[in-house]
Amino acid sequence: MLIKKIDFPILGDERGSLIALENSQNIPFDVKWVYYIFGSKKDIRRGFHAHHKTNQLAICINGSCKFLMDDGKQVENLTMNSKNIGLLIPPMVWHEMFDFSEDCILLVLADSLYDEADYIRSYQEFTKFAQ
Ligand code: TYD
Repeated sequence: MLIKKIDFPILGDERGSLIALENSQNIPFDVKWVYYIFGSKKDIRRGFHAHHKTNQLAICINGSCKFLMDDGKQVENLTMNSKNIGLLIPPMVWHEMFDFSEDCILLVLADSLYDEADYIRSYQEFTKFAQ
């Protein structure tokens, strides 16, 4: 199973809900880098890369989008539409995101700083590394 998810407990009370993300506690790594994607149209496909070393965790904190995950051996798709589900994106997994709802906000946490040298942006190159 290529897709590994984390189910975060939803805390909160009559005032509303809350989800807590804690470094090396319910996030299985030291968080060094956080970014979020929003404003992608429905017909946009993005991602199209794998990382050499970086571990990431994606949470769709608003709206919905789909993920394609490919480790060079199998391909799996997943719809992300829950604020409390995290998708682990390990190193050497080619991923694409698509079918964004207009209100989609995709939060991504990672265990390293942004480094373009850690990206594999050619699928052909990825398949060579993934063998
Ligand atoms: P990109 O990795 O292509 O986005 P996605 O994987 O979601 O399709 O990133 C878009 C642009 O932003 C690209 O030029 C690299 C740049 N970027 C940064 O400068 N810092 C960052 O932390 C990220 C994630 C991207």
